[in-house]
Amino acid sequence: MSVLASLSLPFLRRLDPEQAHELALDALTLGVSVPIKRPKDDPALATRALGMRFSNPIGIAAGFDKNARVLRPLAQLGFGFVEAGTVTPRPQAGNPKPRLFRLTEDRAVINRMGFNNQGIDKFAVRLARLSRPLPSGRGGGAGAPVGANIGINKTGADPERDYPELVARVKPYVNYIVLNVSSPNTPGLRGLQDAVRLRGILDAISARHAERPPLLIKLAPDLEDDAIGPIIEAAVAGGAQGLIVTNTTLARPDSLQSPYRTEAGGLSGRPLKPRATEMLRLVAQAAAGRLALVACGGIESGEDILTRIRLGADLVQVYTAFAYEGPALVGRLKREMQHIMRTQGIETLDDIRGKDL
Ligand SMILES: Cc1cc2nc3c(=O)[nH]c(=O)nc-3n(C[C@H](O)[C@H](O)[C@H](O)COP(=O)(O)O)c2cc1C
Repeated sequence: MSVLASLSLPFLRRLDPEQAHELALDALTLGVSVPIKRPKDDPALATRALGMRFSNPIGIAAGFDKNARVLRPLAQLGFGFVEAGTVTPRPQAGNPKPRLFRLTEDRAVINRMGFNNQGIDKFAVRLARLSRPLPSGRGGGAGAPVGANIGINKTGADPERDYPELVARVKPYVNYIVLNVSSPNTPGLRGLQDAVRLRGILDAISARHAERPPLLIKLAPDLEDDAIGPIIEAAVAGGAQGLIVTNTTLARPDSLQSPYRTEAGGLSGRPLKPRATEMLRLVAQAAAGRLALVACGGIESGEDILTRIRLGADLVQVYTAFAYEGPALVGRLKREMQHIMRTQGIETLDDIRGKDL
């Protein structure tokens, strides 16, 4: 990590969390603490999913770059893939501030941002400008895959109209698309995870898009266990290619220490790890190899990543750990994975995928 980044992290932590986030985005835009040459990835970390190659399985989760401002610098930091959004059809301000809280004692965050974003018009323009492939860790001109995470406005939304329209707007520019039906901060959104509703949305997308990039559905960790099976059947029958498991939780584990634990919103980071891990297991069992799985929720070490891959994950994403640790996180996660793989004689991620199911 550069001196500037190591100096700036403690400084950023003293700021209001949302201001710190804005500053971090500005710093990335300016190239502060972004290496000039993207680190080359160990071939042992390479993997295939969704019909694509990834030089490593670690992505930045949605919500960090809601407006697709810093995808290139994020890829330059060493992420294996990057996801922008959630973007909605119209710009929206989101919930009143404060709406983002650091639960430092718990290595967690609570957010109730409420899809603050600049809307699809600006988002699509920025994606279109990414015409050169993003840097990836394997050279040869193949870029790090880019995803767009799409959602609906708080007011005036019609999911069967809006999701297909958003797909139309992003599909020329991205390698995959995520239907966000799991943010806890948009009233009614999580109801779209209902199998019948979900199928209706997927059918509306199929009716308009004979061809499109792979489609993933991002699930909430607060689903009842017995809702998971029908959702997966609807996803498969509706033509989806994958699932992201999971978004933030409304649950508040008893272990939470921070005074902010009673704030409303979605909890992420370390306290989400047990449920996100358990839910991945349930989803992987029910999906039985029919869908690509992206594990997300409380991932903060190489060990966490390998645990999720053993539970069937093809790829993983991080947000909260990156917010706490900054750019140094990406290299650390890869080094920890490599160390464990070497000591346990694991040659490729395929060797262990799904082995703990
Ligand atoms: C401040 C903040 C904003 C987020 N915004 C979004 C979003 O816009 N869309 C989305 O799908 N997930 C969003 N998420 C959820 C993350 O993508 C991720 O699913 C969740 O934080 C769990 O991963 P983590 O424990 O590594 O943070 C957000 C999370 C945080 C902390």
